[in-house]
Amino acid sequence: MIPEFCTLRAFDSDMLGRPVWYLDDPDKAAEAVRAARDADVGLLFHRGPALLGAALLEAGFRHVETLVTLEMDIPSVDPPHHSDCRLATVDDAGSVEAVARASFRSDRWHTDPAIPDYKAHDFKGTWARNDVAGRADATLVTLTPDGSISGFVALLARGEALIIDLIAVAPAHQGRGLGRSLIAAALAYGAGRYRRMNVGTQAANTASIRLYTAMGFAETSRAETWHWTPDG
Ligand SMILES: CC(C)(COP(=O)(O)OP(=O)(O)OC[C@H]1O[C@@H](n2cnc3c(N)ncnc32)[C@H](O)[C@@H]1OP(=O)(O)O)[C@@H](O)C(=O)NCCC(=O)NCCS
Repeated sequence: MIPEFCTLRAFDSDMLGRPVWYLDDPDKAAEAVRAARDADVGLLFHRGPALLGAALLEAGFRHVETLVTLEMDIPSVDPPHHSDCRLATVDDAGSVEAVARASFRSDRWHTDPAIPDYKAHDFKGTWARNDVAGRADATLVTLTPDGSISGFVALLARGEALIIDLIAVAPAHQGRGLGRSLIAAALAYGAGRYRRMNVGTQAANTASIRLYTAMGFAETSRAETWHWTPDG
């Protein structure tokens, strides 16, 4: 039974193949660990301020990421630009999934040594596929000269904000300006319709932090993520 201070995460549970709970009340960490053991939970996690760290480590959690949130204003007029990006269609879902599987390495699933890499790849790959299949409000893709997909950015509309849900460039195509092109295209997509753009990434993800900063984003907040798994 799920205690009232935890919430089942359905998508995460599907990806891990065992129940995943989010700990809503960090003061109940030790109690949650006992309940998670009894319920054969595969992963229990919490995200919050750094000051919670000592108590969560004491309860058996480990620190897996520092999440940084950044923001920038979207110019109200779409600046003239040459874009090599186009909107994705449902038919692109498999190609976008392949880029995601090959690219993401800094998220909490990949940095947790208790989660096998193939499950972390499934997590990001399926997430990206779902975005293209309709979860995201729009997904933009970059193309190679032969027309295959080399990168993507998936966008969620939340009131006046456009959120970068996922962005990735296939490893063979990184470092050539495609990340910049994707963000420029996302800003052009949002111009006149949304006031600001938000994104979250890991402090350890140097490439993405530099990319966002170079494009004009500024940090607004930080949070830490801790995981507990039954096998340590
Ligand atoms: C983040 C990512 C999308 C950047 O794409 P990219 O096409 O390689 O980026 P660009 O070539 O457009 O680079 C733009 C700027 O980002 C920074 N940057 C890109 N790669 C970098 C690296 N490996 N190290 C440091 N800075 C880097 C630089 O400031 C660069 O500007 P510059 O070329 O003028 O120096 C790509 O590294 C990626 O797919 N990473 C894996 C997925 C991921 O972690 N996504 C972000 C999660 S929120």
